Amino acid sequence: MYVGLDLGTSGLRALLVDGGGQMLGEAETAFGTMHPRPGWSEQAPKSWIEACRIVMSGLERDHPGAVESVRGIGISGHMHGATLLDEDGVALRPCILWNDTRSSEEAARLDAIPRMREITGNIVFPGFTAPKLEWVRLHEPEIFRRTARVLLPKDFLRLWLTGEYFSDMSDSAGTSWLDVGSRAWSDEALKLTHMRRDQMPELREGVDRGGNLRRSLCREWGIAGPVCIAGGAGDNAAAACGVGCLAEGTGFVSLGTSGVVLAARDSFSPSPETAVHTFCHAVPGRWYQMGVMLAATDCLNWLSRVSGRSPAQLAESLPDRIDGPSSLAFLPYLSGERTPHNDATIRGVFAGIDVSMDTESLTRAVMEGVAFALRDCIEALRSTGARLETTLAVGGGSRSRFWLETISTILGVTLSLPKGQDLGAALGAARLAICADTGADPGDVMVTPEIRETIHPRAELVEAYEAGYRRFRSLYGSAQPGPAA
Ligand code: XUL
Repeated sequence: MYVGLDLGTSGLRALLVDGGGQMLGEAETAFGTMHPRPGWSEQAPKSWIEACRIVMSGLERDHPGAVESVRGIGISGHMHGATLLDEDGVALRPCILWNDTRSSEEAARLDAIPRMREITGNIVFPGFTAPKLEWVRLHEPEIFRRTARVLLPKDFLRLWLTGEYFSDMSDSAGTSWLDVGSRAWSDEALKLTHMRRDQMPELREGVDRGGNLRRSLCREWGIAGPVCIAGGAGDNAAAACGVGCLAEGTGFVSLGTSGVVLAARDSFSPSPETAVHTFCHAVPGRWYQMGVMLAATDCLNWLSRVSGRSPAQLAESLPDRIDGPSSLAFLPYLSGERTPHNDATIRGVFAGIDVSMDTESLTRAVMEGVAFALRDCIEALRSTGARLETTLAVGGGSRSRFWLETISTILGVTLSLPKGQDLGAALGAARLAICADTGADPGDVMVTPEIRETIHPRAELVEAYEAGYRRFRSLYGSAQPGPAA
């Protein structure tokens, strides 16, 4: 038996699978994100540990026999977060998350050093880890001085699970400290950002072993042990493992808190000028590229908070079939944007509000706005030479039929929907654990799921949505925020 843990932005999910990767059970719990200032986004690392205790004891309660024989755990997590630890491994401050844009000035300064893009293959985005440490150095010098180690969120969870400092290639690729082509920490990038090699965890491939579960936790959860912890992966690489996107030509559109269009790559061919991310995959010798928009379902969450209706209620208010673009346009830049703009200061816009419009009109505009931003991502991705022949739809937002048809039509891709529940990055993490424990070939374990349904672009509406996309693009300049009151 194996467990996949996915530390998402809104909560932790644990998936229990057998040796063939078939799901036996799952447990989930939510935790919060703090936004103490506009553009800031933080989480308390201890909330991840509390969540882990809740989901693991939930699995044990519901499946005691199976949990007893767990042999491996894989961990996936939201990427880029800076968890700063002192000498004893204690967190010095809340983790600064991937969608926190406070370090935009530091990022721009680092990105202007040509060697940074050359080494890492990527723009130094404000959401990445290195500029956050640079912000801490300048604004919280005492904390910077006491920082003995920096861990990504899932690796902090691993530290608690194992007592050991490891990270994996796919997650470390998003720090701006990794030489992404040669899969090793770059002393040069570390030096350019005032960091040291001894502050970094040891690196593993996602399918390798990266620590063992502490005996005390085996006892707490009724596991006979020993239990190996896989290197694991950043959430997007893990999701790719979960839906079998390893080889060139395969990819997915993910509608999570962030929105992602991902394409697996057989080789390392960075293209930072497009604002596409080029990262190591969770399996050795492979990479992937992705366009990332910062707020996808997060836009719906925002609308839910201001309208008092749950995201599911909002989504259910729309029909299954689309009938052309709305006259209300929405720019989804609630937290700034990465691909293709790399603009931390840009903010959201509704344009064309009419007195007859209601919450349903806003919901529809929000979904279309996210789809247009995903179109920006796929255009950037296509310009790098990445191919998307098979495109799966994953993530919570893919439950909305209206949203999927909108995206398929605006992106011009056929979307394949996996059969059964969307197990996402948690399944990918469990598959990494299977490989780490058994040494199985990742290609045999990370297979494509059975497809339930395919969603095709609505050919008769393509031209109308093209016009909508042009309007969306033209509104970009109007999304600069005004002066604060
Ligand atoms: C990827 C990114 C997000 C997070 C959260 O670069 O920032 O997708 O991993 O899911």
